Amino acid sequence: MITVGAMPRRARFALATLAALAPLLGGAAERPRTVTILYLADLGATVEPCGCSENQRGGLPRLATAVEKVRREGNEVVLLGGGDLLFEGPLADDRRPADLAKARVVAEALRSMGLAGSVRGERDLAAGGDFLRKLRLPFSEGGRQGPVAYGVPGRVPRAPIRVGILHRGGTRAALPLAEQARAQGLTLLLAAHREKLTDDDLDRAVLDAAVPVVQVQGRGQSLARIDVRLAGDPARGFAVLPGTAQREEELSLLELRAGEYRRRQEAADAAGNLDLSRALAAKVAELAERARAERAAPPPAPPDDRPSLTVSFIPISADLPEEPRLRRLVTRHYGEVARMNLAAARKQGRPCPDPRVDQAAIIGLDTAPPGGRSACQDCHPAAVAQWRGTSHARAYATLEQGPKGPRQFDLDCVGCHVTGWGAPGGACNVAAVEGRKDVQCESCHGPASLHAVDPPGHILRSPGEDRCRTCHTPEHSTAFEWEGYRARILGPGHGAPGRGG
Ligand code: HEC
Ligand code: HEC
Ligand code: HEC
Ligand code: HEC
Repeated sequence: MITVGAMPRRARFALATLAALAPLLGGAAERPRTVTILYLADLGATVEPCGCSENQRGGLPRLATAVEKVRREGNEVVLLGGGDLLFEGPLADDRRPADLAKARVVAEALRSMGLAGSVRGERDLAAGGDFLRKLRLPFSEGGRQGPVAYGVPGRVPRAPIRVGILHRGGTRAALPLAEQARAQGLTLLLAAHREKLTDDDLDRAVLDAAVPVVQVQGRGQSLARIDVRLAGDPARGFAVLPGTAQREEELSLLELRAGEYRRRQEAADAAGNLDLSRALAAKVAELAERARAERAAPPPAPPDDRPSLTVSFIPISADLPEEPRLRRLVTRHYGEVARMNLAAARKQGRPCPDPRVDQAAIIGLDTAPPGGRSACQDCHPAAVAQWRGTSHARAYATLEQGPKGPRQFDLDCVGCHVTGWGAPGGACNVAAVEGRKDVQCESCHGPASLHAVDPPGHILRSPGEDRCRTCHTPEHSTAFEWEGYRARILGPGHGAPGRGG
């Protein structure tokens, strides 16, 4: 068992006195009392995952369900924030109205979930202090709810459970401060804020530090859960029980390895290698059995002679139902953003920058370039026919027919689902994407205005992985892998096998 050391003498004395008085005060403190701290950080205004890949975690409506579920268990619940909740980064002019609307939605959602308190990150201040105040969120340096006090270290009020919230650097930056936190009588440190929201984006708990240090995955992909049991003599310090956090880490590792074996098994099946396939299937079964045993093992019993805590993480996964009120709020917000963006786009003048002299521009699939007579599709009918069979040719319809309502006017979405967003000749305005819908040829081969007038030069023959990754980012395309994905966009009429690559 890993224990957190004793508190400073003064605090120990005060708490010991309290404990001694407790029976006289009605004995409530004698019965062990469990308080659940929920913690989220670096939400970065993620209202919902984009839905680009399967099983993306997060989303305010699911998050609300997760919080509600914990509240229904009946213990006291204190929801804390680590900052950087409201904005993804500094505000860009064209996105300002939509981003402010989004911050309001996030704020309303957090209020409805009963956020007790949060430290403030730079990103929360992107629209200024006045805007932040109007959102009526409990941002503060330190506060208290029930037996839990929280805040930036040095500003945490006295309480049976004292939580320091750090706003920078994740566990790496927090660990050197753990010793100091213990000296200040803090129970626990919550860490937050990587430079980029997607950097070092892991659930992590360091339980053998001077005080436990917890970092939660950003963008609302999970909630950290710390169950604190107030029992026995507080002067003996908190025992940290190996809770579900380690177990979950172990389980997700097993799941990752099983997934890898499954992929290799599929490849073996496809290649007709039955022996290998059987061996890999056995591996998968073995890992499943280990995961089952891990899940079935009983959790360790908490001690009665001292307070204790366990740390776990709640994944905000796709199988969590959505809280209906927040679902409606978010969907209504999408409609509002679409109207705002459309109105702004219609007012905007020239859509895209002009190409530099001698620089090619995007021309689209079906229009002849200035000075040329044929369109892309006239000269490359076979490639076009093959492309039409790929999902790239439906990328815009995907947004129009989004399961949660249309999103094609949303600046968070449109850029990767059209051709040449922001580039000369491309789509630069949500109200003017005609001829630039979908992931067309030039998304990969580059602008073709010069090529179409003077073929076969002036064009990129063999787009590499870098091209794909401008859209197939780890966040949007979790399964992207070059060889496999490349094979799926080529076929008869487009990209002769064995050439290039
Ligand atoms: C950075 C580029 C990028 C942005 C921004 C983006 N997408 Fe995507 N989207 C992709 C890519 C790449 C895929 C294909 C992922 C894959 O299959 O690996 C995809 C796939 C999808 C799919 C699944 C299509 C299918 O047939 O399964 C949906 C739905 C979707 N996106 C919706 C959205 C929405 C809604 C937004 C805005 C919130 C958005 N996308 C923003 C790149 C992007
Ligand atoms: C006026 C006819 C014409 C137009 C318009 C045209 N091409 Fe081509 N393109 C050719 C010819 C001819 C070749 C050489 C033969 C071949 O590879 O098919 C070629 C070759 C290519 C190549 C291979 C280049 C190489 O180095 O091997 C790519 C890629 C390509 N075109 C893409 C496009 C795209 C994308 C568009 C439209 C956005 C386009 N072309 C428009 C005629 C045209
Ligand atoms: C301009 C952005 C963009 C670029 C560049 C891009 N893709 Fe995509 N890709 C998408 C989007 C968006 C989708 C989802 C289309 C849909 O179904 O709505 C997608 C889907 C796919 C799919 C289908 C995935 C599935 O599960 O159905 C494959 C395969 C793919 N892309 C491969 C590639 C490869 C390989 C490259 C580079 C050579 C590439 N893409 C470049 C945006 C892009
Ligand atoms: C998702 C990325 C992507 C898109 C979209 C795409 N291509 Fe390609 N294209 C490639 C790749 C990769 C190759 C293979 C190059 C090689 O052989 O190394 C290729 C090869 C080619 C070639 C040369 C080989 C051949 O088949 O003659 C032509 C021409 C071409 N593409 C035209 C087009 C046209 C026209 C479109 C639109 C209808 C298009 N491509 C859309 C990625 C793409």
